[in-house]
Amino acid sequence: MKYTICELFAGVGGFRVGFEKSSSDWKTVWANQWEPSKKVQYAFECYKSHFETSGGINEFSNMDISKVPEEHIPKHTILVGGFPCQDYSVASTGAKGIQGKKGVLWWEIERILEAKRPPFVLLENVDRLLKSPSTQRGRDFGIIINCLAKLGYAVEWRVINAAEYGFQQRRRRTFIFAVHNTTNYYKELENQSVYEELQNLGFFSSILMWKLFQVKQ
Ligand SMILES: C[S@@+](CC[C@H](N)C(=O)[O-])C[C@H]1O[C@@H](n2cnc3c(N)ncnc32)[C@H](O)[C@@H]1O
Repeated sequence: MKYTICELFAGVGGFRVGFEKSSSDWKTVWANQWEPSKKVQYAFECYKSHFETSGGINEFSNMDISKVPEEHIPKHTILVGGFPCQDYSVASTGAKGIQGKKGVLWWEIERILEAKRPPFVLLENVDRLLKSPSTQRGRDFGIIINCLAKLGYAVEWRVINAAEYGFQQRRRRTFIFAVHNTTNYYKELENQSVYEELQNLGFFSSILMWKLFQVKQ
C-alpha cells in the first residue's frame, strides 16, 4: 500500500471501489457512513459486508460525522466524499444551501481538512451546487473554494455527465479536486500557465478528453 484514502459520506463505497480497482497502491484506511434518524443502517451494513475482508473493522465508522473527533481519523493521502446534496437543490424553494441542515456537513469536511491537511481531496456533489442557493446563485460554491484556498489548496472542478462516458444514465455531477501547496504536484502545476494546467496537465484534463472548439467569427 502506497497511498491511503479516507472516505467520508461513504454510502455503499463508490469512491473506494473506483480507487481500489484503479490500482493496488490505494487502500482505504478509514470510512464513515451514517444515515440520520434511521434505526437500521442499510448503507453502512452493505459497506461493511462488502469490504470487511479487506481491512480491520475499526476502519468503518457508523457515527454522525459531526460527532467524530478528528483524532479518531488516521492520516491519509486523499480525502474523498460525495457529501449530502438535498440542501443544494436550487429547484426547491426551501433549500438553504450551505446553511441548511444537510448543507452544514460541508463544515465537517472543512474541520477534518484543517486538522489533517491531506495532500489531495476529491469531492462530488450535484451540478446544482454551482448555483446554490436559489436566492444568491453561486454563493455556496464560492464559500467552498474560498475555504479550500485558505487551507492551502489549489482547486479544480468539472461537471461530468456519466452519460457522456458510456453509462446509461444522465447523471451530472460536480467533481472538486484540491491539491495542497506542500505537494510536488502543486509545485509542478504552479510553473505552468493556467491555460496549460486546465487544458492539458490538470487532474481532470489529463483523465477526461477535452477538445478545443474554435468559434467561427
Ligand atoms: C450522496 S450520498 C454518498 C454516496 C456514496 N458516494 C456512495 O458511493 O454510495 C451521502 C451519504 O452521506 C450519508 N450521511 C448523511 N448525513 C451524514 C452524517 N451526518 N454523517 C455521516 N454520514 C452522513 C448519507 O446517509 C449518504 O449515504
